[in-house]
Amino acid sequence: MSVNMALDVHDWGYLDRRITVTPKRTVLELCVALSRRVPGNIVEFGVAKGESTRILRRALGHSNKRIYACDSFEGLSEKFENAEVGTFACEPPRIRGVEIVKGYFEQSLTPELAARVGRVSFASLDADLYSSTLCALTWLTPLLGSGSLLLFDEFLGEKESEKRAFEDWSKETGLRTVRIAEFVREPSGWGTRIDKRPLFQVVGDDLLPKAAAPLRKRLRASPLGDIARRARDLVRERK
Ligand SMILES: C[S@@+](CC[C@H](N)C(=O)[O-])C[C@H]1O[C@@H](n2cnc3c(N)ncnc32)[C@H](O)[C@@H]1O
Repeated sequence: MSVNMALDVHDWGYLDRRITVTPKRTVLELCVALSRRVPGNIVEFGVAKGESTRILRRALGHSNKRIYACDSFEGLSEKFENAEVGTFACEPPRIRGVEIVKGYFEQSLTPELAARVGRVSFASLDADLYSSTLCALTWLTPLLGSGSLLLFDEFLGEKESEKRAFEDWSKETGLRTVRIAEFVREPSGWGTRIDKRPLFQVVGDDLLPKAAAPLRKRLRASPLGDIARRARDLVRERK
C-alpha cells in the first residue's frame, strides 16, 4: 500500500470509516488541559443547549479559572449550510460554575464584560458565521496574551466563514499566532468536504509562567528529563 502524506482529500465520502476523527469532546478536553498553564479564564462563543459547555466545565473540574459562555440563544441569524435561520434557538442552559452571557455578541460583548472576564487562556469559537466569529475575535483581542489558545469548530464551513474571519482579524490586528494542532472533523451539514478544527496559540512578547517547581523537579528525575538533558547536551556539542 502506498501512503501519500501530502494528500489533501476534500471528499469525506472517501475518508469516512477509513480514518479516525478526534471526537469534539476529546478536542475540548485537550484544550482545557493545555490551557491550565496559561493565565486567564475560558470563554465559549456559541453555546446552544450547552453540550460543549458541559464538556468544558467537567474537564476544568476544580480550578480558579472561570468559564463564560456567550450566545443569543436565538439561533443562527443567517442561513448557514443546510441550517435555516433560527437553528439552535433554545433556552439558555443552567450549568453550575458557568456564567451564561445571553445576547447577540454585537450587544453582549461589552467593555464591562471584558473587564470582568480579564485575561483569556482559552477561547472556543463555535458561532459558525463570519460576522459572529469576527465580532468575537475583535472583542477578545485585548484579553489575549502570550499562550492564549483559540479553537475553531468548523474552519472550512460554508464559504470558509470562520477561516476568513480569523484571517481578516489576523491581518487587521497583526497578532501573531501559531497553529499548534489541527483536528480533522466530518462535514457538519453541507456537501462532503472534510472540515477541520484548528487550534491556534498567540505568540506574544510576555513569557508563559514556568512549570511549577515540583513539576520541574519531577521532570528532571524522570526518563523524559534524561532525554531533555541529552538533547540539550547534543545541541551544545554541535555548537
Ligand atoms: C453551532 S451552535 C453552538 C453549538 C455548541 N457549541 C455545541 O457544541 O453544542 C452555534 C451557536 O452560535 C450562536 N450564535 C451565532 N452567532 C451569534 C451572535 N452573533 N451572537 C450570539 N450568538 C450567536 C447561535 O445562537 C448558536 O446557538
